[in-house]
Amino acid sequence: CRQNLTAANITGFSNLPENIKDFLFYRHCRHFPMLLDLPDKCGGAEKSGDVFLLLVIKSSPANYERREVLRKTWGKERSYNGMPIRRIFISGVSGDSYEKERLNNLLKLEQEEHRDILQWDFSDTFYNLTLKQILFLEWMERNCPNARFLLNGDDDVFAHTNNMVVYLQSLKENKGSKHLFTGHLIQNVGPIRATGSKYFVPVQVQESNSYPPYCGGGGFLLSGYTAMLIYRMSKSIPILPIDDVYMGMCLAKAGLGPSSHMGVKTAGLHIPSNKIDKFSPCFYKDVLLVHRFLPAQMYLMWHSTQNPKLKCDDEHYQLQTKKTMTSAFC
Ligand SMILES: *[C@@H]1O[C@H](CO)[C@@H](O)[C@H](O)[C@H]1NC(C)=O
Ligand SMILES: *[C@@H]1O[C@H](CO)[C@@H](O)[C@H](O)[C@H]1NC(C)=O
Ligand SMILES: *[C@@H]1O[C@H](CO)[C@@H](O)[C@H](O)[C@H]1NC(C)=O
Repeated sequence: CRQNLTAANITGFSNLPENIKDFLFYRHCRHFPMLLDLPDKCGGAEKSGDVFLLLVIKSSPANYERREVLRKTWGKERSYNGMPIRRIFISGVSGDSYEKERLNNLLKLEQEEHRDILQWDFSDTFYNLTLKQILFLEWMERNCPNARFLLNGDDDVFAHTNNMVVYLQSLKENKGSKHLFTGHLIQNVGPIRATGSKYFVPVQVQESNSYPPYCGGGGFLLSGYTAMLIYRMSKSIPILPIDDVYMGMCLAKAGLGPSSHMGVKTAGLHIPSNKIDKFSPCFYKDVLLVHRFLPAQMYLMWHSTQNPKLKCDDEHYQLQTKKTMTSAFC
C-alpha cells in the first residue's frame, strides 16, 4: 500500500507528532498480506455456528508470556456448560530487521504448537489497532461468520470466560443472531487534544469534538451478528486510530449502540477497604472482566476462582459481588 503524499498538504501537518503523520500517510491502507492464518479455526465457515464463544485477543508479537498464561487459564479452548470456546490472538509485526525476524519466528513456533494466531504484515502499533480489528473482521467474514458470540479484548485482562458463557446463555432471545455489544460503557466524551496523550487525536484526524458511545477496548462482548454488521459499516468509515471508539462509530452508523455491563471492570475493581487483600479471589469469582493482570497473578487468580471450596462469607465481598451479580445475570 502506497503512502498518500497529499496528506502532507493538510493544514498544520508539519507540527503533528511523527506517529500521527505516519497514521495520516497510511490511513487509507486496509489490506495487508497474512503471515499466519487459521482458516479452519471454526471448522470452516459453514460449521462456524458451532462456536459459542470466540475469544479474539489483541496481542503484540513480544507478549509471549501473556499468551502462554491465557492458553492455560481463561483462554483455554474447551467446552463450558456444553458450549465450545475457541481462542485467537491477533497480531501484526514489530521490531526492526533482526528483532522483527526473531519475533516472527517466535510466532511461527507458537503457531505450530497451539494453532491460535492470526498475523498480518503491518506494523503492530497503538495507532494501528483499528486496522488490526478491521483485518480480523474481514477474516471472520471469510472463515467464521456464524460464531455466536465474541469476546474482544486485550491480552492483559482477567476475563472470567465461564461466567461469560453463563451470562450469554441467559440471553434467551439472542442466540448470536441479534444485536449485542456490551462492556464498560463510555459516553459523552470526545477526542483528547493534548499532544502528549497516548490517545491524542488532532483536528486533522477528527474534526468533531465528540465521540459516539462506545465500550472500553480492554474487553467487550458482542454477538456474531453485530461483529459482521460492524465490518459492513467499517467499509465506508475512514479509520480513526482509537479502535474502541471506532467500533462505537460503526455501531452508530448502523443505528445501534453499546450497552453497559456492570461485570466488566476495564478501569479495575474498587476495593472498599485496604484491610482486605485486593487480590482475594472472592472479588473476582462473579465478575466478567477486570483490567489488568500480570501473568503470574492471572495464573493464580484463575485457579483460585475455580476452586469449588472457595468460601467468601465476609460481608465486604458480598457487597461487592452482589452488585456485579445482579447485573451479570439478569
Ligand atoms: C500540495 O499542495 C501544493 C500547493 O497547493 C500542490 O502544488 C501540490 O501538488 C500538493 N501536493 C500533493 C502531493 O498533492
Ligand atoms: C490523501 O489525503 C488527502 C488529505 O487528507 C485526502 O483528501 C485524500 O482523500 C487521501 N487520499 C486517499 C487515497 O486516501
Ligand atoms: C500501520 O502499519 C503500516 C504498515 O506496516 C505502517 O506503514 C504504518 O506506519 C503504521 N501506522 C502507524 C500509525 O503506526
